[in-house]
Amino acid sequence: MEAVKRSVLIHTGRAKQDALLREAIERAFPQVRVVTAASETALRELLPEVEIILGWSMPSELLAQASRLRWYQVIGAGVEPLVAARDRLHGVMVTNLRGPFGGPMAEYALTYALAHLQRLRAVEAAQRRRVWEPFIPARLDGSTVGIAGLGAVGVEIAQRFAALRAHVIGVRRSAGAAAHVERVYPLAEIDAFLARCDVLVLALPATEETRGFLSSDRLAMLKAGCFLINVGRGSAVAERDLLTALDRGWIAGAALDVFEEEPLSADSALWSREEVFITPHISGINRPEDVLPPLLDNLRLYLAGEPLQNVVDLVRGY
Ligand code: GLV
Repeated sequence: MEAVKRSVLIHTGRAKQDALLREAIERAFPQVRVVTAASETALRELLPEVEIILGWSMPSELLAQASRLRWYQVIGAGVEPLVAARDRLHGVMVTNLRGPFGGPMAEYALTYALAHLQRLRAVEAAQRRRVWEPFIPARLDGSTVGIAGLGAVGVEIAQRFAALRAHVIGVRRSAGAAAHVERVYPLAEIDAFLARCDVLVLALPATEETRGFLSSDRLAMLKAGCFLINVGRGSAVAERDLLTALDRGWIAGAALDVFEEEPLSADSALWSREEVFITPHISGINRPEDVLPPLLDNLRLYLAGEPLQNVVDLVRGY
């Protein structure tokens, strides 16, 4: 009699990506049954059978149907929907991806830091007006770049800025060294950290603790002329306070990839700010070729009964 195969559901929310991952996983692990769902109805039918989900977010009422679920591998870094469904996930191991996003997020942060220092918006406007307007661009070399959140992503961002000779400083809950960071400030010393930043990069997960991390009082403490880059989660920045800070000139501008609500509403006042770059949550792009190796690694470990990589603590929130 043929043994019943263990079922793996792939559900990224994008059919093409699901198909690519399915093919690669079937090839690597012929001993498992790999399934995908083309509709919510199909998903509801499959969920009660699956032991493993490799997926992006899933509403908690759907998750409740996965009664045989043992492991949820998030194809991404953020785990907010799973934290919200924590009570339904007793006995389910949750892992996420950390490595693949640092590189693209670091390139995003560098792009917009340099766009700010090189006054890209003013250059574009001058070109449109056909006027020759020389100026001395500010330099990243010698600037101070502060990074809030020194996890896998934050450290990769630090490495890229340090390579371009910025002074990289960081802040996190507790003191201690971090690679490529000249000085790590504990949260208790955040005033001193904020006062030094020419560029501030937020690479924070969404947790109760990071909600409203950058509100009026802290925006007011930033070094005058600071440029903000947010690649973590929108909940870390109080958008109303950010608009006030821009109006009052507390900061010079921002590049925002994440927002309190996504998609950003067409009514948001942020859209019309010349000094703000708005991008639609693209800084940590999620290409199959980047996410496949760590997914295969963890599947191999799981099937061998070995400890998994990047285990998430749903109480802590990351
Ligand atoms: C994207 O924002 C992610 O959390 O992977």
